[in-house]
Amino acid sequence: MSDDRHWYRSAVFYEVLARSFGDADGDGVGDLRGLTDRLEYLEWLGVDCLWLPPIFDSPLRDGGYDIRDYYAIHPDVGTVDDMADLLDAAHRRGIRVISDLVVNHTSDEHAWFQEARRPGSDMRDWYVWSDTPERYSDARIIFIDSEASNWTWDDQAQAYFWHRFYHFQPDLNFDNPDVREAMLDVVRHWMRMGFDGFRMDAVPYLYEREGTNGENLPETHEYLKLIRRTIDDEFGGTKVLLAEANQWPRDAAAYYGDGDECHMNFHFPVMPRLYMGLAKGHADDLREILADTPPIPDAAQWGIFLRNHDELTLEMVTPEQRDFMWDTFAPDPRMKLNLGIRRRLAPLVGGDRAAIELLHGLLFSLPGSPVMYYGDEIGMGDAYLLDDRDGVRTPMQWTAEPGAGFSTADPEAFWLPLVDDPDYDPSRVNVADQRDDPGSLLSWVRAMLAARRHHPEMGLGDFTMVETGTAAVFGFLRRLDDVTTLVVANFSRDPQAAVVDDRLVAGMRPVDTATGERLTTVGVDPIRIELGPLEFHWVSLAPR
Ligand code: BGC
Repeated sequence: MSDDRHWYRSAVFYEVLARSFGDADGDGVGDLRGLTDRLEYLEWLGVDCLWLPPIFDSPLRDGGYDIRDYYAIHPDVGTVDDMADLLDAAHRRGIRVISDLVVNHTSDEHAWFQEARRPGSDMRDWYVWSDTPERYSDARIIFIDSEASNWTWDDQAQAYFWHRFYHFQPDLNFDNPDVREAMLDVVRHWMRMGFDGFRMDAVPYLYEREGTNGENLPETHEYLKLIRRTIDDEFGGTKVLLAEANQWPRDAAAYYGDGDECHMNFHFPVMPRLYMGLAKGHADDLREILADTPPIPDAAQWGIFLRNHDELTLEMVTPEQRDFMWDTFAPDPRMKLNLGIRRRLAPLVGGDRAAIELLHGLLFSLPGSPVMYYGDEIGMGDAYLLDDRDGVRTPMQWTAEPGAGFSTADPEAFWLPLVDDPDYDPSRVNVADQRDDPGSLLSWVRAMLAARRHHPEMGLGDFTMVETGTAAVFGFLRRLDDVTTLVVANFSRDPQAAVVDDRLVAGMRPVDTATGERLTTVGVDPIRIELGPLEFHWVSLAPR
């Protein structure tokens, strides 16, 4: 594994739910050993870093984001030794591993909360209490489908406690120095064990202040900077903090500080605009949000993603855009959840291979590191009638066998059912078939990841949007030293001619890097590229 401090800037991340990837002990729940057994696949695919949503002890009322003990691995997924083995095995293959760190809140079953709610407890102010549910009324409710207030009455404490998410996830009180220190200890513990970093869950909400919306407060940034200093000082600078700050670009970029806060943050507003572009047949919304994205410190990096374990969130769009997205991508109201859509990538685009490729072509070339979601590389489907977001968290489909190669248990005993939609069930969509088929989506994704490795400018280069003469074709340059790659992506279902007449490309001749062949349908000065429906190209530009 490289000791490059900036490895995350050119890495490909892969989010994998331990419970849904591979079941080594045959109880129907995926586990860490099952994941370790399948690292060969991830190395073959070309993944550089795994992101594991919480694997810690939890009552599992929110997919493990309700942590009961930060120091224990959930027995369903294994032991601390299994975790150590996974880290070793992954590192031997050159794959790094980050985990979620749920900073903002704990489970209400956590010993800290159990103690804090006790009348007369010394730990009372580890959480946020109030005699009335009126305080901090400017803070929005996030889980609008299930929570009516951010305050819940606790009989034992005889007070309301504050929670930005579910009512069983009390927010920690970061005004309390003991809380700040306790969370630093959690960070130290797992980093010492070998974790390469953390996805910092729900970080905008750490502090509460009257008269504010309780997001992105200066105190929150201060605390994140303290975590950064701590890991830099104590762990030598190769660990990474990936913020989950679902915010507009300027607020999101603030999580980089001056290069002294988080190394990475997801670019939430880009994601829905990729789908929007497909539906509208042009990239205007995408262009607009990227134009509105400020420059970030040199060592910082965006996380670009298409889907993840949550609903496709529509928080960072206008109300009109949200209605458009719902109308287009959630024709059945049961597909909606909170301010989002609980579906997977492939069914969202009707299984259209060209659309899936276009989205991935951008995922792998937009400014940032791609964060893939397990199963999307084979075009897995969903089961949106399952509870909450479980429909996008179903077991990985390895083979066409009855248990999909996920587990030897009776599928009836799986922690979540396999997808049973006939267009997407394991007999139609699985790794084994696609691995053997050079024309499959999986083979294509792998080839693109391999291509990306030959294009360090996709991770490290600068980014400049260029005019293409048509709103349908999104065009941009990625440039690093003397390497320039032009990306053109046709969002429309009609053929288009992109004409790029920019001083930055003057005197250059295009070479299509996906095929290594000189593009046949190009003109030079200005560069003219014919694109089929939903077609995209990465085009190397060489001086003539
Ligand atoms: C996670 C969700 C979770 C929430 C509360 C998030 O942002 O991604 O899955 O429900 O935090 O912890």
